Amino acid sequence: MNDEPASPVCYASQGDDIYMGYGGRDEIAAALNVLLEAERAGARVTLESANDARHPPTKHLIKAVYEDEAKWCGMLSAQIKRIGVIPSTHCGAFYDKAMAIADSHERLAFLNRGQAWVVRKLEELLPRVRDDILHAALSEMRASHVENIQRTEECIAETKT
Ligand SMILES: [Fe+2]
Repeated sequence: MNDEPASPVCYASQGDDIYMGYGGRDEIAAALNVLLEAERAGARVTLESANDARHPPTKHLIKAVYEDEAKWCGMLSAQIKRIGVIPSTHCGAFYDKAMAIADSHERLAFLNRGQAWVVRKLEELLPRVRDDILHAALSEMRASHVENIQRTEECIAETKT
């Protein structure tokens, strides 16, 4: 006879995860919600910046970054729900800070610093994640951010007068 209480499928072994040095559900969910708010801010900044951009290659790049930011919002939201937590509906403070920058080059550079912050947060989080599906999704998000940072840096360098 099994005397263990019934628990949800996901994170049934949260205690084991913490004992083994991985993050528990609450810690992982909190980190994912911080990333979700940052990505939502990034999506809004890139959407509005793409609409304002006059240089076609820059507009194209910012639109592509917007699509990625929106994709990561969807991924993070789905992963937060998968572990039984409600996704945040807030937008990160990054949005107001970025939109206060009128110069398009300066705003793009600021966006890239925000993207680098996301990469650092992902690199801190990844060793704490035991769940293979979540680990793979966050690794993909990290690689995509590294690539977009490089592309944006090249765009800034090419269009700087
Ligand atoms: Fe991002």
